[in-house]
Amino acid sequence: MTTSSPLFTPIDLGALKLKNRIVMAPLTRSRAVEGEVPTPLAIEYYSQRASTGLIISEATQISRQGQGYPATPGIFTDAQVEGWKPITEAVHAKGGLMVAQLWHVGRVSVSAYQPDGGPGVAPSAIAAKGEAMKPDFSMTPFETPRALTVDEIQGVVADYVHAAEMAKKAGFDGVEVHAANGYLIDQFLKDGANQRDDQYGGSVENRARFLLEVVAAVVEVWGAGRVGVRLSPSNGANDTMDSDPAPIFLHVAAALKPFGLAYLHLIEGEPGTPMSIKGGAPQLAAQMREAFGGPLMLNGGLTRELAEKAMTEGRADLVSIGVPVLANPDLVERWRTGAELNAPDKDTFYGGGAKGYTDYPTLAETKA
Ligand SMILES: Cc1cc2nc3c(=O)[nH]c(=O)nc-3n(C[C@H](O)[C@H](O)[C@H](O)COP(=O)(O)O)c2cc1C
Repeated sequence: MTTSSPLFTPIDLGALKLKNRIVMAPLTRSRAVEGEVPTPLAIEYYSQRASTGLIISEATQISRQGQGYPATPGIFTDAQVEGWKPITEAVHAKGGLMVAQLWHVGRVSVSAYQPDGGPGVAPSAIAAKGEAMKPDFSMTPFETPRALTVDEIQGVVADYVHAAEMAKKAGFDGVEVHAANGYLIDQFLKDGANQRDDQYGGSVENRARFLLEVVAAVVEVWGAGRVGVRLSPSNGANDTMDSDPAPIFLHVAAALKPFGLAYLHLIEGEPGTPMSIKGGAPQLAAQMREAFGGPLMLNGGLTRELAEKAMTEGRADLVSIGVPVLANPDLVERWRTGAELNAPDKDTFYGGGAKGYTDYPTLAETKA
C-alpha cells in the first residue's frame, strides 16, 4: 500500500497545522456525568485518537436551552470547562489538535430539557416528524417548538459567544459551529423548518443571517483561522430539509468566504454509498469548495479509497471520519498500512461506560 496518498500529507487550516488530512468527525457518545460535565473516561478516549490530524469534539451544547439528548456535555459552565481541560491537555500531550463543536439543537429538544419546562425553540413553530430522546434515554414524539423572537435570537448569539469563550478557557485549539443535521442553525437555513417573514426568513440572504451572525460573533472571540463551520445541505437529518438546497448552500459558501475561516465541513454521502443524499439532491461539494475558496473537509461514509477519490477529483482538501475512528483509535495507522479495521458496536454508541468507548484495540494490542 502506497504512503504517497494525499491523506497523509500535512495541511494548514488557518491557524491550525494538521499533520495529516484525516480528521476525527464529531461523535456524540452520551456519557457525560452530573452537570453535563464530560466523563473522565473521555481523557483516554480522545487522546487514543490523537494521531488524527484534528479531533472535532462531540457536539457540546452552548446553553441548557440548546440540549436535546441525554448526557451530552456542555461548554457553558465552569464545571464543564474544568471537565474539558484534562481532555484537551491529554490530546495536546500526544501531539494532537482539538476543536469544540458548538451546538444548539433548537426544535430537536423537548420540554424535559428546557430550563423553563416549556417546548424547545426554533425559527418557526413547526414540529419535526419523528422522536426525541428524553434524559432517561426513552423516546417521545417531537413537540411543537416555540418560535424565537428577534431579541431572543440575539440572546442565542450571545450564548454562542459565551460558549466560544469557555472553549478557549478549556484549552481547545478552536471551535466548529455546528450548522448541520437539522439543529437550530440548519433549521434557520432550510425552508422546511423556517417559515419566518422577518429578516431571518424567506430569501436565502435572510435564512443565512443567523448563521452569519453566529460566525461573525465567534470569529471575534477566536479569530477566523480557528473557526470552522459544519453544514449538511441535503441529508434530511431530524426531518429538516430544504425544497432546493443548491441556492441557499451556494449562497452560504460564498458568504462565508470573506471571513477566511479555518475550514468548511460538509456532510455529503459519496454517490452510490449508503450515506448518499436522499431524494437525488445535487452533489454540491465541488461547487461549494469553489465558492468558499478555503479548505473544504468532506464527510459521509468515506473509506480510504473514497476519501482519496474525493480529494483527487477536487471535492475535498481533507476528510473527516466518524464511525471508523470511533471503532479504530489508530485508524490513521490502519489506513496507512492497509490493515483490517475493528467492527463498530452500535449498542455502545450512546451511553454506558468504557465498553465500546475506550476498549477498542489498536493493531499492536490486537497482535499482542
Ligand atoms: C454515534 C454518532 C454520533 C454522532 N454525533 C455527532 C455530533 O455530535 N455532531 C455532528 O455534527 N455529527 C455527529 N454524527 C455524525 C458524524 O459526525 C458523521 O457525519 C457520520 O457518522 C458519517 O460519517 P462516517 O460515515 O465517517 O461515520 C454522529 C454520528 C454517529 C454515528
